Order: sequence, then structure tokens, then C-alpha cells
Amino acid sequence: MFPRGRKILLGVAGGISAYKSCDLLRRLQDEGFIVDVVPTAASLNFVGKATWEALSGRKVITDFWSDVESVPHISMAKENDLIVIAPTTADLLGKLASGRADDLLTNIVLASTAPKILVPAMHPEMWLNSATVENVKILQQRGFFVIQPGEGRMTGSDIGVGRYPDSVNIITEINKVILQSADLVGKRILITAGGTREPIDPIRFIGNRSSGKQGFALAAAAASRGAQVHLVTANTDLPLIEGITTTHVETAAQMSAVLEIEFPHSDALIMSAAVADAKVSNYSDIKIKKESLDRVELQKNPDILKSLASGKKPGQVIIGFAAETSADFESLEKSGHAKLASKSLDIIYVNNVSDGAIFGSNHTQGLIIDSQLNVIKVPEISKDTLSDILLDQLASKLG
Ligand code: C5P
Repeated sequence: MFPRGRKILLGVAGGISAYKSCDLLRRLQDEGFIVDVVPTAASLNFVGKATWEALSGRKVITDFWSDVESVPHISMAKENDLIVIAPTTADLLGKLASGRADDLLTNIVLASTAPKILVPAMHPEMWLNSATVENVKILQQRGFFVIQPGEGRMTGSDIGVGRYPDSVNIITEINKVILQSADLVGKRILITAGGTREPIDPIRFIGNRSSGKQGFALAAAAASRGAQVHLVTANTDLPLIEGITTTHVETAAQMSAVLEIEFPHSDALIMSAAVADAKVSNYSDIKIKKESLDRVELQKNPDILKSLASGKKPGQVIIGFAAETSADFESLEKSGHAKLASKSLDIIYVNNVSDGAIFGSNHTQGLIIDSQLNVIKVPEISKDTLSDILLDQLASKLG
């Protein structure tokens, strides 16, 4: 099972700039996308099937009459969340504009309801030819996103508009198209961030190393997908996110009090804060002299997540986090399953924080487990990318 929203079909047409799509494929993988490559027969003159299989790590089908029993043009059209065709040649623009389907790629395009991004690359004369201009217009009217080619030197000595854009610009456009799908419009999402602190006296506290970066990344990503976000943040030092309601708390009890009010009218709760498991029961409201500071008594804090999840209404979705110090995958998975079940969560993200990793970092790694017991291993990716992946899952659970 793949995370929703992260599966891209990369079509490659027969232009000399097909080699640039090798870099695009790599950069897409860096962004956490899973990429299936579908090269046209003509493009194999420039980059061979073996290259695409090695780079994508996935089987590549180049011809409509292979693997017929699995009906690949339908399964690939259904499985992929986005189609990017880079480069798109003048010939392919013409074929797509007239709705033709005479090879695997054009069949997939016709069968797919996913957003489609075209990256035309050709000589300036061809790009500016009125037939091409007309075809682009028709495709745009039908909802295709067409990225404008760059300007500069072409394969020969000619100069003009028609160059294949840099991978980074294509990825920016891809991310924009994904965001435009704004699948969380109208959803109220409650997100916690940071680490609670439990005071010992007015000066000292028991705390943890959570920076709040993951919770803030989730809040920003959810808001950009149209959600109404309420961020409850504990002891973070991060800039406020414009347009997001933010409540600051210090202790687990304060966080719990806010969540109890907010959760009943939220569609989802994402509990990424590190909540102190215990508070100080012999709190002193005056500074304890160092000579007397020999004993801190603890009393267990209630598990906020467990208690909210036990009262959740049908349709509400809850995502929990768990920080573990076990490097081995089996024990991470085991504790993830146990916490998912004991706290009645829909999804849990378990990360391995041993050696000080992850806390305070912009990157994360771990695994996602959902209530159907699907397990997705998350390699080292940015906290922004993990946010997108978790929100893809949340959006599909919210329906
Ligand atoms: O059991 P553990 O503390 O590992 O579970 C982590 C998850 O539970 C996190 O989502 C955290 O925010 C939440 N939690 C809580 N209340 C506590 C302790 C943890 O809501 N007292």
C-alpha cells in the first residue's frame, strides 16, 4: 500500500531532453514520491528501459502489448495520484489534444482522472507553431497543467523558447498542483506541538527535548490544504504561522484542558506533542533551596490522547505519535501496534529518537501504522514531507 497523494506516473516522450527526466525522477524520489516511469517507444532511443528500471527501482513497461493480463493501462491510471509527462513532444501534444490512444502512455492518460502536468520541450519553431499553440490551448481547456518551457540554447546552435525546465521548477509546479487539490477544505484539525513542562518550583521544571517542528510542519501543511487549524503548542520557540489559531500552554494539564474544549468540534486530532508522563506532586510555590532539593515526587499524568480517543465520535480521526529509543524495526513496529490499539488510534507514527536523533531536526524517519494494520516504513525525509504523507492518509480517512 502506498500513501495517497505520493504516487506519480512519469511519462517520457521521445525528445532529446528525455535524459533530464532521470534527474527529475531522482528529485521526485527525494521529495518522498513513488514514481512509475512509462517511456514511449520513441523515447527509448534516448534513454533505455534499463536506466528507468534501475533509477526508479520499479518494473517499467514500455509497450501496450506486454503484461496484458494485468491490464496495466487501467491499473496504472487508477494507482497514480498524478501524471507528469516530461518531456512532452509536439507530437504527443497533438495526440493528446485529439484524444488518441495508440500506446501505453496515451491509453493511461485517457483512462486516468488524476491531475496531469505536461512539460513541453522542443525547438522554438515547433513550440511557436500555430498547431502546437492550438493543441496546448485545447489541453489547458480540458484541465491539463502545461508548464511553460524555458528560454535559452537548444540542442543545436539555435536559441529561443522550448527548453526543458530545471527539475526544481517542475517540482515546484507539481507541489502547487497537489496543493490546489486542497483536500482538507472545511475540515477542522486540532494539532499539538512541542513538549509539556511540569514545574518543580517557580524556577525549575521537568521537560523534554521536543522542538515542536513536526507539529508546526503539520499545521502549516494542513492549513495550505484548506483545513481550519487550531495549533496547541507547548514551550516552542518557533515563529507563529499566519492564519492559524494558536494556543500556548505549558503543562500537560493545561494542554488537556484546551483539547477537552476543542476536540468535540474538531474533525481530527493530531497529537504530535511530547506530553510529560508525570507531574511533580510536591510542587513548591517558592524556590526550593538547593540544600533541600533532594527529592522530587512524581504523580502520573492522565494520558490525554487515550482519554480523548475513548470519547471520539464517528467520523473523527485521531493520529498519535510515539518516540521510541529502539533502533530495530521489529520492536518499533511492535510498540506501534500496541500503542495504536491501546489508545484506539486511527494512525500512529513511531519514530526512533535514540542518539538524540529527530528532536530538533528538520528530518525524521520511522514508520506509519494505521488501524487496518498497514505499515509504511518511512526512510529519512523532511518533517514537511512526512506531514504531507500523514495528511494524505488523514484526508482519505476523513473521506
Ligand atoms: O505512550 P506514549 O507516551 O509513547 O504515547 C505517545 C502519544 O501519546 C503521543 O501522541 C502523545 O502526545 C500522547 N500522550 C498523551 N498524554 C500523555 C502521554 C502521551 O496524550 N500523558
